[in-house]
Amino acid sequence: MQEVIFSGMRPTGRLHLGNLLGALENWVRLQEEGHECYFSVVDWHAMTTAYAAPGEIQENIKQIIIDWLSAGLDPAKAVIFKQSDVKEHAELQLLFAAFTPLSWLERCPTYKDQIKQLDGKDLATYGFLGYPLLQAADILLYKTTAVPVGEDQAPHIEMTREVGRRFNFLYTPIFPEPKTFLNQYKLIPGLDGRKMSKSYNNTINLSADSAEIKEKVRLMVTDPQRIRKNDPGNPEVCTVFKFMEIIKDKGKDTQATACRQGSIGCVECKKHLTEKMTEFFDPLHEKRKELENDNEYIRDILADGAQKAREKAKATMEEVRTAMGL
Ligand code: TRP
Ligand code: SF4
Repeated sequence: MQEVIFSGMRPTGRLHLGNLLGALENWVRLQEEGHECYFSVVDWHAMTTAYAAPGEIQENIKQIIIDWLSAGLDPAKAVIFKQSDVKEHAELQLLFAAFTPLSWLERCPTYKDQIKQLDGKDLATYGFLGYPLLQAADILLYKTTAVPVGEDQAPHIEMTREVGRRFNFLYTPIFPEPKTFLNQYKLIPGLDGRKMSKSYNNTINLSADSAEIKEKVRLMVTDPQRIRKNDPGNPEVCTVFKFMEIIKDKGKDTQATACRQGSIGCVECKKHLTEKMTEFFDPLHEKRKELENDNEYIRDILADGAQKAREKAKATMEEVRTAMGL
């Protein structure tokens, strides 16, 4: 079945391997399956948490687009655009705000979580409370039928369905109920073995050059029971080995056997992984190099994407205004 797909990312920094394998690969697959895809850099969402220092948002937008394109998103097959280029997102959020009970937003679990997590930032703002409503507007504006996201976003998609249902009930049924396409559950460990996440400072960025990759592999935790080079090791508990699996290294079984026999040291094994990781990143880096100096190309992609997105957004807003008697 042909779906309408919408997803977004906030331009808050470089993307890492966890983003690639946990989300982007999924997006690329949906794009290749021929669905109607919208992928948006949601800068207004970023503003709700970065409002006091928005200076980095512009550079982050450029970098995220480079990461997306390097990973295989294709502007000829998917609409790639910046949220703030399509003002209809704001209009729809405002109209949704008219009939959304305050309690839905106050009760949203991500709201309380984030306030706790990002302490130090004052997030007791009107904009931050309205974050899920802006997300609902993003999604429903394109009459989206499926949203590929991680599990953490499930409450927002549920709220999107509730907002759409309430609109359909109060006025005219125009919004489909979007499904959640949970990103295939793949726990990508960070360097320390915990989940890879920017907030744990244990990531490998997609833009990491070979020196950075080497340093990151050096920092990876190995089997803690292994003290001397010829102690037999256990690859199952070793982050270095997990990464061989993640990048589908064909030499991983040989490494594992050598590890179990104690015939290879961790330093040597890490050298192997560094080489394989560098190979894995090569195609991304080549694409990145092409794009990095081509601001004009990136600007063109965003302009073109905004135009395509606007077309659909405009049509939906006409229906919305009519339904609401405006
Ligand atoms: N809240 C999402 C996140 O932090 C980003 C986002 C904004 C989004 N609008 C969206 C995701 C619409 C999917 C659909 O990851
Ligand atoms: Fe991990 Fe390799 Fe060391 Fe074994 S030899 S513990 S797989 S780094």
